[in-house]
Amino acid sequence: MQSEANFRISKISAHLNPSNFQMGENSMLEQAECRAKGGAPGFKVAILGAAGGIGQSLAMLMKMNPLVSVLHLYDVVNAHGVTADISHMDTGAVVRGFLGQPQLEDALVGMDLVVIPAGVPRKPGMTRDDLFKINAGIVRTLCEGIAKCCPNAIVNLISNPVNSTVPIAAEVFKKAGTYDPKRLLGVTMLDVVRANTFVAEVLGLDPREVSVPVVGGHAGVTILPLLSQVKPPCSFTSEECEYLTKRIQDGGTEVVQAKAGAGSATLSMAYAAVKFADACLRGLRGDANIVECAFVASQVTELPFFATRVRLGRTGAEEIFQLGPMNEYERAGLVEAKKELIASIEKGASFISK
Ligand SMILES: NC(=O)c1ccc[n+]([C@@H]2O[C@H](COP(=O)([O-])OP(=O)(O)OC[C@H]3O[C@@H](n4cnc5c(N)ncnc54)[C@H](O)[C@@H]3O)[C@@H](O)[C@H]2O)c1
Repeated sequence: MQSEANFRISKISAHLNPSNFQMGENSMLEQAECRAKGGAPGFKVAILGAAGGIGQSLAMLMKMNPLVSVLHLYDVVNAHGVTADISHMDTGAVVRGFLGQPQLEDALVGMDLVVIPAGVPRKPGMTRDDLFKINAGIVRTLCEGIAKCCPNAIVNLISNPVNSTVPIAAEVFKKAGTYDPKRLLGVTMLDVVRANTFVAEVLGLDPREVSVPVVGGHAGVTILPLLSQVKPPCSFTSEECEYLTKRIQDGGTEVVQAKAGAGSATLSMAYAAVKFADACLRGLRGDANIVECAFVASQVTELPFFATRVRLGRTGAEEIFQLGPMNEYERAGLVEAKKELIASIEKGASFISK
């Protein structure tokens, strides 16, 4: 009787610290895979950097996603606190926490999707490139873990500067012999989310009815909203184009300045990250016509990586759409974007190849 009760207690607490939970060879848990009773079958998702500003809200929103059956929360601090908190939500996904480098591999084994918001955020006066040195090293370590433990997982990379961290991840995967360009996606969804919001404000529409393609990259002038391709079809004056383009490009700075030292966009970013992760999961499930913007390996321009609309499917970014017709203002913006983008891409790639 006593041993059955002990087993049940250890089973209940297993998700908080799986490495402390010793499973016997014939354990019922091995068969049950730690799935919540009644929990729906679904995808296994890991969040790396789950205790951070973005990570915590992202973890909460992913726990609410019915497509997720197992949610692994990894961080170098406070992973178990966040896990305990999130695990009390009465939704289907089973949550497990993993703390620090020794538990990285356990966090990654068997994952279908890995979302990475790990790293330091921008402070006022800092550019995304200032973050490069710190975040480049973090992304390298995490991607080495992915290559080893879940080489077929879709990777959603949020850590900035995305224009450089995606090429870093690609080089790590190439070195490991696991690189599949379709599975590596830089998350630029926040630029689209902002563009939809700001454009809807100008047009007096519900933002949910608006769709703005945002191409290029994810920093300053590399963020190029294609206002001539907004749906529903509409037209803007040149002043409106100038205002909207600048506001979308500077959206991150607007938040950094308003937070005045307390970090960068976290809540809207978590929302955008979950919107994008959900699209990836629906693609994995085989849903048709899942199209979102992302920063991916691309032949749309002469640059090796570029953000455009992509169709998400069972194997990741299965189709990459062309830029479509652009007006003169956008063509000039594209020239500027490419100049900055090529330097950021090379900086990322050479961080690994050096
Ligand atoms: N792609 C985008 O649109 C976008 C938008 C906003 C922010 N960001 C970027 O997202 C990142 C996170 O921002 P935040 O505001 O959540 O920062 P934060 O400092 O609040 O959180 C970062 C988390 O990463 C963790 N971390 C640090 N090193 C780690 C490692 N080696 N392994 C695992 N976790 C590690 C930290 O402990 C912390 O919990 C930053 O790089 C930021 O610039 C991207």
